[in-house]
Amino acid sequence: MAADRASADPLTPRRFRVLEVRRDTHDTVTMDLAAVDGADLCFTPGQFTMLQAFGVGEVPISVSGDPAHSCRLTHTVRDVGGVTRALCAVDPGDVVGVRGAFGRGWQVDDAEGGDVLVVAGGIGLAPLRPAVLAVLGDREAYGRVSVLYGARSPTELLFPEELEWWAGDGAVDVHVTVDHATPDWRGRVGVVTDLVQHARFDPARTLALVCGPEVMMRYVAAALTASGVPPERIRLSMERNMRCGVGLCGHCQLREHLICVDGPVFGLDRLRPLLDTREL
Ligand SMILES: Cc1cc2nc3c(=O)[nH]c(=O)nc-3n(C[C@H](O)[C@H](O)[C@H](O)COP(=O)(O)OP(=O)(O)OC[C@H]3O[C@@H](n4cnc5c(N)ncnc54)[C@H](O)[C@@H]3O)c2cc1C
Ligand code: FES
Repeated sequence: MAADRASADPLTPRRFRVLEVRRDTHDTVTMDLAAVDGADLCFTPGQFTMLQAFGVGEVPISVSGDPAHSCRLTHTVRDVGGVTRALCAVDPGDVVGVRGAFGRGWQVDDAEGGDVLVVAGGIGLAPLRPAVLAVLGDREAYGRVSVLYGARSPTELLFPEELEWWAGDGAVDVHVTVDHATPDWRGRVGVVTDLVQHARFDPARTLALVCGPEVMMRYVAAALTASGVPPERIRLSMERNMRCGVGLCGHCQLREHLICVDGPVFGLDRLRPLLDTREL
């Protein structure tokens, strides 16, 4: 089958054509891609691909699209350096390279029958979007679903229409905060950790999915632990520089873990000794 052939060599990029590009914020774009060879790219929420701007370089980028639509690969990229700048500059019709999808994701099914608490900071909402969409695709299987989202300012909020849509019919309890308000901002101001107290969830039956800057994840993990969520049910997505993406080069090593194959998503029970060390 074409899909099996395509995934046979994880080190060889496949060619994907850019279908559509949406500018989310001043430094972030979301792009929809389709495989030139026509074979779907299957992924689970929380997985990433190695995305290549030909002639510039290759970087790990989480999939931000709907897992129910594997014929369309969606990525949200923030321009922070050479490769991400080139990726943010693509136009419809351009071709990029894709390896993957790789890594261990959120494993959203573990939340079935209980509550789901999604906590995102900044661009951390992008890797969490597929998890929210997977839950919404089977909404009756879960209890209360909350999204707590913090951004630096209102102009840096990702997917604002989608946040409204998630909250629209009460399917998701959405709370948003910003570090710095603009004059027209009527919402909350403060850090995302403060939002934990506003979410309604049964700690013992909650799966918490957390993604954002490491300092934010450390504080959110402490707040969730204090509220009674078991460490193995608090999941965090870790970022490290990567080269191969498949456990061969050792570039992404964090103590005994290779982030690309053991993660990027880890339970707090495995990560806590690392989060407690100063170098993180
Ligand atoms: C599993 C995984 C998933 C990721 N998902 C996304 C995503 O969905 N969208 C997205 O925009 N980015 C994501 N990233 C981060 C992205 O890979 C980096 O921003 C990218 O590698 C930077 O490469 P560059 O050549 O553009 O910049 P560089 O020139 O390499 O770096 C520019 C600046 O960014 C800093 N930087 C480099 N890598 C990272 C990093 N991983 N995190 C934070 N700062 C970094 C550098 O220290 C430097 O200051 C993810 C990373 C990992 C490991
Ligand atoms: S990126 Fe090579 S081992 Fe993880």
